[in-house]
Amino acid sequence: MPGRPSPSRRTVLRGVALTPVAGLGVAACSPGGNGVTAPATPTAPVDLGAVSEVAEGGAALYRDHNVVVSRAEDGSLKAYSTICTHAQCPINKLEGTTLICPCHGSRFDARTGEVLHAPATQPLSELPVEAENGRIVAGPGA
Ligand code: FES
Repeated sequence: MPGRPSPSRRTVLRGVALTPVAGLGVAACSPGGNGVTAPATPTAPVDLGAVSEVAEGGAALYRDHNVVVSRAEDGSLKAYSTICTHAQCPINKLEGTTLICPCHGSRFDARTGEVLHAPATQPLSELPVEAENGRIVAGPGA
C-alpha cells in the first residue's frame, strides 16, 4: 500500500503479546477479581437472617451482602461494610471478631470497624442495622 507502511511482523507480534498482559493487570487490580462486577454493600435494607445466628459478644460475616454484624453483650447490633478501605477488596474471612482482608492482610475489629492491622488506615463504613421480629435487617433505611 502506498503512503502507509505495513506493520512489520515484529510490531504485530509485540501488540499481540502485550494485550493479554494488560488485561491481566486490570483484572488483578479490580475488586471483583473478574472485572465484571464490583463488590458492593446493600443500597437498601436486606434481611441477613436470625438475630440468634450472631452470638452475644460475637460477630457474623455475610459474604453475599459484604456486611459484618456484631452483637454486644447487651444484645445491641452493629453492622459494617466489609469492603476493605485499603483497595476495596471484599473481606471474606472472620476469625472471632477480627476481619481479615485477603488482598493485603489488613485486619479490622468487627465490633467497631476500627483498623487493627495496616495497610488499611481508615475504619470500615458503618451501616444502619436493626432487629425486626428476630431478624437482622441492615443497610441504608434499616
Ligand atoms: S484491599 Fe484490603 S488490605 Fe488491601
